[in-house]
Order: sequence, then C-alpha cells, then structure tokens
Amino acid sequence: MRAISPSLLAADFSNLQRECEMINASSAEYLHIDVMDGVFVPNISFGFPIMEACKKHCTKPLDVHLMITHPEKYVERFCDAGAWSVGFHIEAVEDPMPAIELIRRKGVRTCLTINPKTDIHSLDPYLGEVDMVLLMSVQAGYGGQGFIPESLERLRYLRQTIDERGFKTLIEVDGGVNAKWAPELWKAGADILVAGSAVFNAPNPIATIEQLKQV
Ligand code: DX5
Ligand code: ZN
Repeated sequence: MRAISPSLLAADFSNLQRECEMINASSAEYLHIDVMDGVFVPNISFGFPIMEACKKHCTKPLDVHLMITHPEKYVERFCDAGAWSVGFHIEAVEDPMPAIELIRRKGVRTCLTINPKTDIHSLDPYLGEVDMVLLMSVQAGYGGQGFIPESLERLRYLRQTIDERGFKTLIEVDGGVNAKWAPELWKAGADILVAGSAVFNAPNPIATIEQLKQV
C-alpha cells in the first residue's frame, strides 16, 4: 500500500473548506489530524471543532494523531466525531491496552504512535494488537521540522518484524516527509506517509501529493 495523508496542521485555517476541497480533488487517501494539548507536547494545535468542520467538508477518511496526555479520556469522542483511525502515543500511557480497547469497541482503527527517541522495541508487544503504527520521524509537537534519517532503520525493523510475525498492521511515517525522502520510505516499507508542509506549502499541492507516491 502506498497512501498519502496530508497533515492539516500546515493548512490555511482561514480557508478550511477550500483546503478540504483541495484534498478531496487530490489523490490523497486520508487527511491527517494533529491534536496537541500543550502538555504532552509544548504546542497547542486544535481539537473537536476543527475536526468536525473537516468532517463536514472532507470526503477522505480522517486519520487522527493525538499528542495528548490521558488519551483514554478522549479517544471515544474522537471516534464519535468520525475518525477513520485514532492513534495516541506510547509515551503518554503506562499501558496502551485500555485506550486501544476503547477505540476498538467503537469499531474504529487503532494506532499506536512512537517518538524518535523511544526504544523501538517498546512497540513489540503491541504490533499484533493495533491496526496501524505511526512512526514519528521528527519529535512530535511541530510541523516543518527536518526528517531524522535514523527513522529509516526503525522503519525497516518494524516492516521486518510485522511481516515475520504475519501481522497486517500498517506502518505510517510522520514528520519532515517530502519528495526527497518519500522514495526511501516506500522502499523501507512504509504504507502511509504523512506530509504537512511539503503539501500545503507547495505551489501545486495536488501535483505534490501525486509526486510523493512515486518510488
Ligand atoms: C508533528 C505532526 C506532524 C506534522 C507533519 O508533531 O505530528 O503530523 O504536522 O508536518 P511536516 O510534514 O511539516 O513535518
Ligand atoms: Zn501527525
């Protein structure tokens, strides 16, 4: 699978409907929704009202990335708001299983996210429990950061482990993704690439989305 999930974080918030219509007209498979609480990460982005506005105008499934503490308190609300998938950080919880169960019971795809500095093996016990893992290739918190090249090695490890264990778990990569890194990421086994600034700051976002799919 080679799918693109443009990150709304880099969009023009004064023209959300127009940005959603651009995504609808593009070949992007998803729209990535970055929710930051100012506690788990230093930055605050947006929450339910913006997600609901996107739900109204965007025909693509919403891929929700929670950068918040106590995700178990909010995951059901994001499911009810129309998420296609809900992901939260392994660093934000002692045990990810309760929040995973809550999302699963809503019939929504589950995703566990990992920051660049966290031991990649901490995902091992959960690779067969979630529908997707989100590998951060920048420290979560801000758009527009540079891709961390060591992420490629972490991606190869995840691809190999998921395949060897016979899981169907999708691998999504998020942070600093652009046309330079995309071919390497596909080759290393990514299924979905998130791209914020590379898409929304491009002179032609629709063509850029198409370009990001090339190997
Ligand atoms: C970072 C967010 C990313 C971000 C990606 O914390 O999770 O989704 O918006 O933006 P770029 O592609 O600009 O790194
Ligand atoms: Zn994200």
